[in-house]
Amino acid sequence: MPALKTNIITLFTITLLLLLHFTTATKDDLHYVNPLIGSTAGGNVFAGASLPYGLAKPVADVDGQNTGGFSTDGSNVTGFSHMHDSGTGGNPSMGQFPLFPQYCPDNVVDNCKFGKSARATHYVNESVTARPGYFALELVNGIKAEMTAARRTAVYRFTFPETRADDGSVLDPLILIDLTDLWDSRQNASISVDPDTGRVMGNGTFLPSFGAGSYRAYFCADFAGAQVRDGGIWVNDRAGSEVKEVFITRGFNNFYLQAGGYVSFVRPGDGVVTVRVGVSYVSSEQACSNAEDEVSDPVKDFESLEEAAKIAWSEKLSPIKVISGGVSDGLLRSFWSGIYRTMLSPQDMTGENPLWKSDEPYFDSFYCLWDEFRAQLPLLTIIDPQTQSKMVRSLLDTFKHEGWLPDCRMSLCKGWTQGGSNADVVLTDAYVKNLTGIDWELAYKAMVNDAENEPLEWSYEGRGGLQSWKKLNYIPYLDFDYLGFGTNSRSISRTVEYAYNDYGLAVVGKGLGKKEYTKYLSRAGNWKNLFKADQKSFLENGTDTGFTGFFQPKYLNGTWGFQDPIACSALASWCSLTSNPSETFESSIWEYLFFVPHDMASLIKLLGGPDSFVKRLDYFHTSGLADISNEPVFLTVYDYHYAGRPALSTSRVHSYIPRTFNASNNGLPGNDDSGAMGSFLAWSMMGLFPNPGQNVYLITAPFFEAVEITHPETNHTATIRNVNFDPTYRSVYIQSATLDGKPYTKNWIGHEFFTRGMTLELMLGDRESDWGTREEDLPPSLSDALVQDEMQMQMLDA
Ligand SMILES: *[C@@H]1O[C@H](CO)[C@@H](O)[C@H](O)[C@H]1NC(C)=O
Ligand SMILES: *[C@@H]1O[C@H](CO)[C@@H](O)[C@H](O)[C@H]1NC(C)=O
Ligand SMILES: *[C@@H]1O[C@H](CO)[C@@H](O)[C@H](O)[C@H]1NC(C)=O
Ligand SMILES: *[C@@H]1O[C@H](CO)[C@@H](O)[C@H](O)[C@H]1NC(C)=O
Ligand SMILES: *[C@@H]1O[C@H](CO)[C@@H](O)[C@H](O)[C@H]1NC(C)=O
Ligand SMILES: *[C@@H]1O[C@H](CO)[C@@H](O)[C@H](O)[C@H]1NC(C)=O
Ligand SMILES: *[C@@H]1O[C@H](CO)[C@@H](O)[C@H](O)[C@H]1NC(C)=O
Ligand SMILES: *[C@@H]1O[C@H](CO)[C@@H](O)[C@H](O)[C@H]1NC(C)=O
Ligand SMILES: *[C@@H]1O[C@H](CO)[C@@H](O)[C@H](O)[C@H]1NC(C)=O
Repeated sequence: MPALKTNIITLFTITLLLLLHFTTATKDDLHYVNPLIGSTAGGNVFAGASLPYGLAKPVADVDGQNTGGFSTDGSNVTGFSHMHDSGTGGNPSMGQFPLFPQYCPDNVVDNCKFGKSARATHYVNESVTARPGYFALELVNGIKAEMTAARRTAVYRFTFPETRADDGSVLDPLILIDLTDLWDSRQNASISVDPDTGRVMGNGTFLPSFGAGSYRAYFCADFAGAQVRDGGIWVNDRAGSEVKEVFITRGFNNFYLQAGGYVSFVRPGDGVVTVRVGVSYVSSEQACSNAEDEVSDPVKDFESLEEAAKIAWSEKLSPIKVISGGVSDGLLRSFWSGIYRTMLSPQDMTGENPLWKSDEPYFDSFYCLWDEFRAQLPLLTIIDPQTQSKMVRSLLDTFKHEGWLPDCRMSLCKGWTQGGSNADVVLTDAYVKNLTGIDWELAYKAMVNDAENEPLEWSYEGRGGLQSWKKLNYIPYLDFDYLGFGTNSRSISRTVEYAYNDYGLAVVGKGLGKKEYTKYLSRAGNWKNLFKADQKSFLENGTDTGFTGFFQPKYLNGTWGFQDPIACSALASWCSLTSNPSETFESSIWEYLFFVPHDMASLIKLLGGPDSFVKRLDYFHTSGLADISNEPVFLTVYDYHYAGRPALSTSRVHSYIPRTFNASNNGLPGNDDSGAMGSFLAWSMMGLFPNPGQNVYLITAPFFEAVEITHPETNHTATIRNVNFDPTYRSVYIQSATLDGKPYTKNWIGHEFFTRGMTLELMLGDRESDWGTREEDLPPSLSDALVQDEMQMQMLDA
């Protein structure tokens, strides 16, 4: 009997565990997604409705923080438009052809407000509703706007409360369409209103928000649910129905005329006017057919469109399961929303590329790869490898047709290059992780092009200073470069990034059997040439930080120049391409000092060994020098792993999350940058962090009891499970680990973990242990020949 009893208890326990596991693991996690996280205080996220990678992105546009269209900053709504980017800096992105619903006092059309600032209206704060596939708010005048999206079609449902004129007659709803975008970049545009159907079509030429040239966008709007009363055009603050078409341009004096079209309606009993807006980059006809194909009946389809969007998002999030272990809903919301935002952009514009004919996929809004290569694209590589492969193919197709890999790209235009040619890292990452369907010979050719050929205009493609790079092995301060044009700055950050880019070439070249890979391997060491061993660093009040040895700018003749190591940090002043251009881009020498992702072992040696390196890293993170709001900081949070102190990476990540990343509307420390910040958060909370371009993930304890990731191609499930999980995060340090049941002492793991579906169990405790601290436990570094062999074999000896 006792035996039976034990069995029953065991059976009961197993069933309970299964049940618990089942209920948590299959719960629909979509309700944790809050698109408003990062919608104010500079997060710049897109808070509206979108499919994963969708092109149509309807949301309310405001006159406050509007780079992503909407903000919860309490500013005024100027319209509802159909295309946006997410999390970007630069100028406000897209937002063409906004609709604006209103009543004209006394039903006199000239009494309506047409211009952008004239019509701007506050929204009711509490009315803002955002969830995947749906966005809504109410204006203070009582007009309610709801929206949802298909891939290239936005659908709006405006509800007009019954309003009467002074004489008691019912007012007619009016909806205008403005030939503008968020930052009034329109160069010229046309609109035509069909008086019978109310269909409005148009097009316009606009400027990319962080790039060169211009692009043309097209729309096709249809109205449903209400009888059309009238329609026409407006210019400045006058309107009339006797004209049905208008063309506007900037004119000789570059004057910005405000103009557009409008349609007015007989107010239906329920007050609802539905608008379907198809968008396209090819033609207005294509915008109309996109809309007709995707949404046959906008009135009836509204709910099913939202439902379809929810299903699409659920599917995209489904590879990840979390067993929360009792952590707060806020943390779960941060986590799932971060992952959600990584799939708003880049946008799938396949079929909408007017620039060249091709059967390859076309993705746009790589805004910018400098942000995305570090954590976002590596995240998509594990949860959506098929789409990541398509993006890589799109980058290669762009190289094929435009001659260069993009570095930043938006709205069909080339964007500013911030540092290196970081598409090289994206390709290398895809290579070492075996993404399928990619022409590797073409990829290598594109990378060699970046490394060998200087473009005339290296502000938006390739690299500058290549003669010096090849001859002197660094980018000189005030380079003598007569081959190409670019901002002659950032010599330090470009040197360290070019070195890493060339490391990528060496990896792919070697893999493909190219003899010249050794040339790139040697250039991968060029970062050392800007290391000035006796350089000291002082705070602004003159206090010595106590650390010696920093990167410094170096002239062509080999003489050192000078940039204060704390310049361009939060302790000094901001540096970007245009504001205070310096030898480091958007960050300090202090921060760039840690950017040697491929050879941390050499760097640590150069900085005096692990103890001294750890002291320096601690000082960096605690002195205000580290800028958690910008991407170059990401890997520095985990650099302790390379010094044999993985527990300190764990402490560090907990010092930033949730303090600087949380579930409130202001819960991002800086621009989300197309989901880069969201991906940093997601990886960190999953307990793994990629070193992009290498088959390496650094291990820390997940913020949850367990995380499961099912590889969408192999269907194998990888599990990271904390034993002794403590949701208060006092016990966060790994004491020991097993991989598939066998002891595992390395503080990193390869991509096979995901593809083969391994199980990593982490025993936690409340203090640092010796787990993952020995030399043989550390992640590979280029200079470490032993480990290098291991890397080449790309296998785990678990
Ligand atoms: C709406 O929210 C904004 C931003 O938080 C705030 O400034 C404003 O006072 C709020 N308006 C009302 C009416 O509460
Ligand atoms: C919003 O509109 C109000 C009232 O018209 C105005 O006072 C305020 O300046 C506007 N806000 C912005 C950011 O333009
Ligand atoms: C519109 O502006 C673009 C960019 O300036 C120009 O190339 C194009 O010719 C213009 N189109 C018309 C019809 O004026
Ligand atoms: C833009 O729209 C106008 C009005 O519908 C049309 O006449 C013109 O041909 C269109 N231009 C392009 C380039 O499609
Ligand atoms: C990539 O494929 C090679 C050859 O099949 C294999 O040896 C390696 O383990 C794979 N790498 C990863 C990260 O899956
Ligand atoms: C200089 O600034 C640092 C950091 O704020 C501070 O710790 C230190 O006491 C200051 N030293 C002097 C001499 O004011
Ligand atoms: C090298 O060039 C810099 C900048 O022109 C100059 O200040 C420095 O004196 C030169 N050094 C030597 C050794 O000529
Ligand atoms: C949430 O994050 C923001 C942005 O980093 C920060 O300013 C704010 O203080 C955080 N809120 C809390 C409650 O930690
Ligand atoms: C993975 O699962 C999907 C859906 O069930 C199936 O279509 C596919 O063939 C599976 N792949 C492998 C490698 O088993």
